[in-house]
Amino acid sequence: MATPVMEKTAAKDSAPSPYITVTFRIRRFNPEVSDEAQWQDFQIEIDPKERVLDGLHKIKWDVDGSLTFRRSCAHGICGSDAMRINGKNRLACKTLIKDINPEKPITVEAIKGLTVLKDLVVDMDPFFQAYRDVMPFLVTTGNEPTRERLQSAEDRERFDDTTKCILCAACTSSCPVFWNDGQYFGPAAIVNAHRFIFDSRDEAGEQRLEILNDKDGVWRCRTTFNCTDACPRGIEVTKAIQEVKRALITRRF
Ligand code: SF4
Ligand code: F3S
Ligand code: FES
Repeated sequence: MATPVMEKTAAKDSAPSPYITVTFRIRRFNPEVSDEAQWQDFQIEIDPKERVLDGLHKIKWDVDGSLTFRRSCAHGICGSDAMRINGKNRLACKTLIKDINPEKPITVEAIKGLTVLKDLVVDMDPFFQAYRDVMPFLVTTGNEPTRERLQSAEDRERFDDTTKCILCAACTSSCPVFWNDGQYFGPAAIVNAHRFIFDSRDEAGEQRLEILNDKDGVWRCRTTFNCTDACPRGIEVTKAIQEVKRALITRRF
């Protein structure tokens, strides 16, 4: 009875290891230690089918517990682990090691345009303030329905793309206009305004448009498309911004 088990074990032992050695080059910052950020290399063994987030976990749990980053769901839902990986904004939990050339050091740094608090953690307050400023909630008056507010499939489709936002800030922190002074509302806030402006049940579209007509509003967008490239949800961010601009001109939405 023992023979098959031994054969199985031998076959397993001879299988090639999926692990490779990968260098993570991480931009570290700790205001209690230094005013300057600095790069630090970590070499880890990892299966290239794993994700950058798995690599960061290995470093934090096995090598240096002081490494600081945000993550929660680990499955592309919560939006908390946007970071610059090899110079591009991505979610660490959605980025496979094998897809980003693991033969070279993988650079990992905080997203740009927001104050770095520690390592990969930035101050998200300005980002969420812009989100709050566009009133990201349904506004209705009177005619309280006894059940749900009805909407045709066609009307629902009108803003379907912008409902997918997970507020990860990958778009806003990849926008050169936002990098310049941080006053621009930024693409994420406009995407979330779009979600309600084009909702046939909502009654505050005009109000939101006026908010975005501000000097730091939608007109500051220079159609750079970085935001669309960065969005991990595949939202056509620049197109949504263009639609809001058009609505401001035509007042039709
Ligand atoms: Fe993130 Fe995309 Fe939403 Fe921007 S639009 S916050 S990139 S999910
Ligand atoms: Fe910025 Fe996107 Fe416009 S990157 S300039 S918000 S198209
Ligand atoms: Fe939630 Fe990556 S950890 S989106």
